[in-house]
Parts: sequence; structure tokens; C-alpha cells
Amino acid sequence: MSENGPDEPGPTEWGEHPHGVGPWEVEHPGENADDPRYDPELLDGGDRRNVVDSYRYWSREAIVADIDARRHPFHVAIENFGHDANIGTVVRTANAFAAAAVHIVGRRRWNRRGAMVTDRYQHIVHHPTAEDLFLYAAVEDLSIVAVDNVPGSVPLETATLPRNCILLFGQEGPGVSDHAKQCATTTVSIAQFGSTRSINAGVAAGIAMHAWVRQHADLSRSW
Ligand SMILES: C[S@@+](CC[C@H](N)C(=O)[O-])C[C@H]1O[C@@H](n2cnc3c(N)ncnc32)[C@H](O)[C@@H]1O
Repeated sequence: MSENGPDEPGPTEWGEHPHGVGPWEVEHPGENADDPRYDPELLDGGDRRNVVDSYRYWSREAIVADIDARRHPFHVAIENFGHDANIGTVVRTANAFAAAAVHIVGRRRWNRRGAMVTDRYQHIVHHPTAEDLFLYAAVEDLSIVAVDNVPGSVPLETATLPRNCILLFGQEGPGVSDHAKQCATTTVSIAQFGSTRSINAGVAAGIAMHAWVRQHADLSRSW
């Protein structure tokens, strides 16, 4: 049962995370706080950010550097030609799974609300056109895997995903653009069994990223 009534703010509305720690002196009286990764302001005021407990009091730069040392070689890309509202969700999940980067194709502006401030710790690259993304993929030697339920796609449930890849998602309505699908190495679809034509792009991104994790990640390194 939820602790919050129907009109109470839920997790996506909290500006600061409900969990967290107070000032260092209150939490660790008498202990040294000389770790260079610590942020003096957080030590003084406490740390209520949406970060795992292992990163309490760490500066943003120190957290990014730590994740950078063990990011996975899969990237995520989403087409953003019409202000897709799912990008925040995609960024948050990409952060959770330590994706190498999130690529936004089309409009630069996107709705950050669903990201829950996780974009501060995630590399985000903007590409004005799909061509720019394909060029990036070629230079970085990344396979492009389009994710959409269209004729000719192969089931994600049985597909082997390339280790070094970009998982490319479309937007509500049009889905992955025809040009992007043509340029992709392969297109995978998520099996559906109900009446809806498709699932939410943010949900599809979570399922596809987790499929990559199941195939390639070292689970002993998860939190
Ligand atoms: C709402 S869907 C787009 C519309 C969809 N092509 C249609 O015919 O209704 C938005 C994006 O979510 C992802 N998606 C949704 N359902 C999917 C599924 N069953 N398999 C793979 N991707 C899916 C794809 O990336 C898709 O481009």
C-alpha cells in the first residue's frame, strides 16, 4: 500500500529524495571527512539527492567519473522530432543500467521531468539528424539496433544483441523513422499479446536495455 494519499506528491514530484543523510557531523560525529570525492557543501548541509547510498556526499564529478570507469558499451538513442515525453524515462533507465550514452536525435530540447535529475550523471549527446547518429555509430564501430514492432523485425526475446551497440527507439505515433530502420543493422520487436498496437516508448526502452543487461552485464558488479 502506498504511504501517500491520492493527492500527496509521489516519487516523480519530489524535488529532493525522501531518503538521504544529514550533515556529516551529525551522521558521523568525530570521523574524518577527508575523502577528495566528497563535496564540501553536501558535507555541511546533508545529501538528499537521488543517488545510491554508496555515493552519499560525493561531488557530481566524482560520481560521473566512478560510473565512467565501468559504463557498459551499449548506447541508447531516441528520435525526438516532436517533443517526445518519454525521453526523461529513457535517460533515467539508461543511468540505472550505466549505458555509455543517451543520444537524442532531432530536437535538442526535451522534457527533463521524468529523468529525476539522473541526466546530471549521464552522458547525453545531441544529433540534429539521424545521419549524424549513423556517422557517430560508424566512427565508434557501434551496431545500430532499431527497436520497433514492424514487419521484418526479429523477436527481442530470442535475439542476440551485439555487445557494442546503439539501441534506437522511435517516438509515440510514427515510431522509428523509415530511414533509421533502413540504416539499422537489425530491428528487434518486443512480443505483445493484447489489443494495443504498441507499448510506451519508455517502457520499451527499459525492456530492451534489460535484455542487453541479461546477455552481457557482469551482475556481480551491480549494486
Ligand atoms: C508508441 S511506439 C510507436 C508507434 C508504433 N510503431 C505503432 O505502430 O503504433 C513508440 C516506440 O516505442 C517502441 N515500441 C513500442 N512498442 C514496441 C514493441 N512492441 N516492440 C518494440 N518496440 C516498441 C518503439 O521504439 C517505437 O518506435
